[in-house]
Amino acid sequence: MENKKPKMANPELSYFELQAYVGTTKHMGGFETTKELIELCHIGKDTYVLEVGCGVGATACYLAKKHGCRVVGVDLLEGMIDRSNKRAQKEGVTNRVEFRVADAQNLPFEDAFFDVVIGESILTFIRDKQRAVSECARVARPGGYVGLNEELWLETPAESLVKQVRHVWDIKPDIPTLEGWMGLLEGAGLGDIVVQTYRFDTRRESTQVQRYGFQDMWRMFYRTLFLYIKNPAFRKYMAERRHLPKHLFKYLGYAMFVGKR
Ligand SMILES: C[S@@+](CC[C@H](N)C(=O)[O-])C[C@H]1O[C@@H](n2cnc3c(N)ncnc32)[C@H](O)[C@@H]1O
Repeated sequence: MENKKPKMANPELSYFELQAYVGTTKHMGGFETTKELIELCHIGKDTYVLEVGCGVGATACYLAKKHGCRVVGVDLLEGMIDRSNKRAQKEGVTNRVEFRVADAQNLPFEDAFFDVVIGESILTFIRDKQRAVSECARVARPGGYVGLNEELWLETPAESLVKQVRHVWDIKPDIPTLEGWMGLLEGAGLGDIVVQTYRFDTRRESTQVQRYGFQDMWRMFYRTLFLYIKNPAFRKYMAERRHLPKHLFKYLGYAMFVGKR
């Protein structure tokens, strides 16, 4: 079944509904960071992986195709799961990948069910981060890994910047600092934590495109254009988000955290 259009008449547009509709999701650091995360989590052919907040399924399908492992992807939005299933079919990996709707704060899996749990830019958007990290740790087997790539404040931002970021990216909860994220992983019982922090870098961000083929990029382009032409609410939504806050990337960066269960 084709994805439904988000309700554009509603000025309360959802950032993620919109992404599911245009068919692409992203995280800071692009494809290059995904590959580093895979390496740091020691993912190989025999690893059973859970990806929380899988979006349109790009990383899960890449893992199954490139590394030959079995992957389960979960996301809160049905639109994301529809897209992910289509991607798995297109890429011929339905025998190794499975997608389902689930909340990262309440994962529908038994303890120690997976070898590795990964998440790319999802916990940033969750209010109860401790609960979500603890859930990721709970479903990873002892000796397995939890690997996260998440946004963080590199320096304490002014309140006005925090407000702007909330508005532009719909990040309602607080974004932690490095210490904040470390505390969350430790609080979930993870040890031997490896951390790599990054500043925004255009070259790295451009590797985002490599996750998607021409067809995906084309669909994203024409669907965005279609909405822009046809829908005044969408035009207003975009206009309000056209300019990123000044000096944003002096303060906002991202980091990879890999902890051992
Ligand atoms: C910024 S997107 C990143 C998607 C994907 N990881 C990627 O890198 O392309 C965040 C994703 O997290 C999902 N999400 C947000 N809150 C969630 C929750 N509580 N449980 C599961 N997924 C959630 C959103 O629907 C969205 O697909």
